[in-house]
Amino acid sequence: MVDPSLPFVPILKLDAVTRQFSPDAPPAVQAVSLAMQPGDLLSLLGPSGCGKTTLLRLIAGFEQPQTGTIAIAEQLVAGAGQWVPPEKRGVGMVFQDYALFPHLTVSQNIGFGLTQKPNTLIQRRVKETMALVGLEHLGDRYPHQISGGQQQRVALARALAPHPFLVLLDEPLSNLDVQVRLRLRQELREILKAAGTSAVLVTHDQEEALSIADRVAVMRQGSLEQMGTPETLYRAPTSRFVAEFVTQANFLPAQRFGSDWKTDLGVIASDRVLASHPQLDLPSLASVDLMLRQEDLLLHTDLPESHACSATVYDRQFLGREYRYGVQLASGYRLAVRTTVDLCLPIHTAVQVSIAGVAILRAFPSVEGRAKRE
Ligand SMILES: Nc1ncnc2c1ncn2[C@@H]1O[C@H](COP(=O)(O)OP(=O)(O)OP(=O)(O)O)[C@@H](O)[C@H]1O
Ligand SMILES: [Mg+2]
Repeated sequence: MVDPSLPFVPILKLDAVTRQFSPDAPPAVQAVSLAMQPGDLLSLLGPSGCGKTTLLRLIAGFEQPQTGTIAIAEQLVAGAGQWVPPEKRGVGMVFQDYALFPHLTVSQNIGFGLTQKPNTLIQRRVKETMALVGLEHLGDRYPHQISGGQQQRVALARALAPHPFLVLLDEPLSNLDVQVRLRLRQELREILKAAGTSAVLVTHDQEEALSIADRVAVMRQGSLEQMGTPETLYRAPTSRFVAEFVTQANFLPAQRFGSDWKTDLGVIASDRVLASHPQLDLPSLASVDLMLRQEDLLLHTDLPESHACSATVYDRQFLGREYRYGVQLASGYRLAVRTTVDLCLPIHTAVQVSIAGVAILRAFPSVEGRAKRE
């Protein structure tokens, strides 16, 4: 990865890119600006219909922006009177359904975009790329003779073979079953890193985005909501949407109490609370919602009542390495808590809830009259 402290020449730069399909519908992509470091894997994350595919198609050149500019490897490819067609952008594309040619073998599929080169060079590159994705032994098979995971790798190899500046992947793992998907997720990252290619990967799966990308861009209703490293998005979301969509955090209403904050889980000292956004002037606010990650809450069965807030377990989900509990506070407020599997509590158990000593809470503008958490 490129040293993030150095100034970089972006491999992809979008400036206020907007695409509106019809005048009576809101823009599918609205004033999106971002710059991407060479060699990075950027994930575009967001709910269905938020404009991820449209943004990818704008970068690839299958759509034209109404306003804004797109530059790839410092060349303006769209906007400001410029237009470079898709095949001249140095971009490789991996579609959700892979779009392999059924009548061509695996090696013919991979070599498809290399027609400009002499035959021996094509063969060498096809071999190299097949080795990169671990398909050396399947070159003579046809797409219907290989598994879904292998088809996905053929599609990736086909996109990588012409040495593109940028590979664009639209939900490349969504057609695979969950086991294959988890394995290929890591493999995909390793292949892209080994190839040294920059890539943009669209997904609506937050775990997928956080686990494989160097940076994640969260989209909402056509706009870019926040972009940063997975750690930054997880620890310091700047909007409630990102906090809910990316971290599935709890939100606990808090009222000003001197310089501190009063909540259903007791009084929280002001030095444990940070503003979620630089424009949020905490000292001036009488109430906020505090973001509380599920793993920052602790459940106890042996504390004196006065030391922690009492609650009742109403739900328990076994997640393999941990439990996700649903607990209801005496006030009726509900919270989700993750614990190790050592702590196995039956439904209806009376517990006490406290906040882990190391947890830093982020304050968001309070949502007045918001319905209690399900
Ligand atoms: N060719 C088109 N003509 C009209 N509207 C379109 C077209 N393509 C996309 N849209 C609309 O633009 C919006 C964004 O669509 P897009 O496919 O980019 O979403 P997405 O984030 O990829 O969603 P998903 O996760 O479901 O794939 C949607 O409201 C969609 O209906
Ligand atoms: Mg899509």
